[in-house]
This record gives sequence, structure tokens and C-alpha cells, in this order.
Amino acid sequence: MSTSEVLQALQERNADELSRFSEVLLDATSEVQPVWFSKPYDDFFWHCATTIPNWLPRVVAACATTEGSGAHALLKIWSGVDFHREAEDGILRHAKDEATHAQLFVQLARLAFEQNFESDYLDTVQQSLCPITELDIVKSDRRVAEQMLIDYLIQLNIVEIRTRHHLRLLAPMYYSLAPACNKGRVERILNGLARDETSHIGYTAKLIDDWANDCNMERLKSLYKCRLHDYNQHTLEHCDVAKHDYGQGRFAALFND
Ligand SMILES: [Fe+2]
Ligand SMILES: [Fe+2]
Repeated sequence: MSTSEVLQALQERNADELSRFSEVLLDATSEVQPVWFSKPYDDFFWHCATTIPNWLPRVVAACATTEGSGAHALLKIWSGVDFHREAEDGILRHAKDEATHAQLFVQLARLAFEQNFESDYLDTVQQSLCPITELDIVKSDRRVAEQMLIDYLIQLNIVEIRTRHHLRLLAPMYYSLAPACNKGRVERILNGLARDETSHIGYTAKLIDDWANDCNMERLKSLYKCRLHDYNQHTLEHCDVAKHDYGQGRFAALFND
């Protein structure tokens, strides 16, 4: 996957042209290459998936937990925004989607990798997930300022692009390792996740595009670049444990060793 494929996917799905968002994204990625779009990153994922026992099942179970906590982090942002209806609606819908994804990842783990887990492990993961209830959907008095909101939207956009790419790398492996009798349901879950993640890229892109104007364009570009740089760092740090345990010194280009 590449930046131009992201933009193409958005154009296929959106009536809007998103020309200012495209300019921001292309400017940022021309200076700061997203590490997850690099060949060594793909190779590292493939290496982990094919050589580390139980890596893929553990990734699916971990996704349930991270999507569940992501849902509540989004709800917290939503609770502090009271001045932008479209952003509020998008973020709330996003939070609910991620809470649903947490459950879907548990289902995916059961359908594709049931045999790889201790008998009650997935029940424990499922019980640890906190759904979003009507009682959670309340505004707080901790107000999110406009500049902070645009910063959050940029970060969400970057994270969703990375998530969509991870799904693209991993979905074919989940599908092919699932038992034949479950492949149909696994495929439906994976397609639903891919559709939702693209829509999360789309609504954040649209809000950034609406925000951008001649006066703030340079500020948006430099903020996007700065956040992209941060997420490159976070992503590599996250891979670090696996690299030391399993990389066997083979991924120097990715980690700049
Ligand atoms: Fe998700
Ligand atoms: Fe998402």
C-alpha cells in the first residue's frame, strides 16, 4: 500500500475531492516516509508471522484489547468537543465502530484460531472489554480547544491509515489459516473491518480538508509532518521487542541499527 493508494481509495468512496487534504498528505509523506509503507516493514511482519509461534493469534487477541481502549479514548475526545457538529458526529460514530471492532476481533480469533488459545483465554479477553453504553455518552467540562481537535484529527488520520495497512498485510493470512468451515464468516468480518477503517480515514480527511484554507495550510502541513514523524517513532518502538527477540539482526534497514 502507498500514499497514492490511500488517496485513490478515498476518491472511490467520497464524492468530495479532498484536494487540500491530498496536498497536506502528499507534502508530509514526501518528506517523512511512513515506516509502515516500507518494504522492510512488510518483511518484518511476514518474518514474525511465519517464524514466531502463535504470533498471529496473539495479534488478533491484542487487537480486541487495543480497539476496545481506542473506542473509549475517542469517546473522551468527543466528550470535550462542543463546537463542531460534524466532527462530534464523526468521532462518536468512530468510537462506536471501534467498540464493535473489539468484539469482532474476539470473534475472528475464535473463528480463525480457536485451537491456539487456552480454553478460557478468549472469554477473559471478551469480559475485559467495556462496551460503550448510553450512560458513557455524556459531555465533560474538560473542553477540547479547536487547535487541539485538529491535532487529534491528524493523529487519528495517521493511525487509521496505518491500521488499514496492517489489515491489508494480515487479513490474507487470517483468511488462509482459518478452518475451511469458518472462512466465509472470517471473510465477512475482514471485509467489514476494511470498509470501516477506510471510512475512518475518510471522515478525518474530510474534516482536515474542510479546515484547511490559504491561511492555515502551512501550519497544517507542518503539524501533519510532525505527527507522522512521531508515529514512525512509536511504531518502530512498538516493533522493538519483537525485533530483539526474533529479528536475528536481519532488519537493520528498518530500525536504522
Ligand atoms: Fe478498528
Ligand atoms: Fe479505525
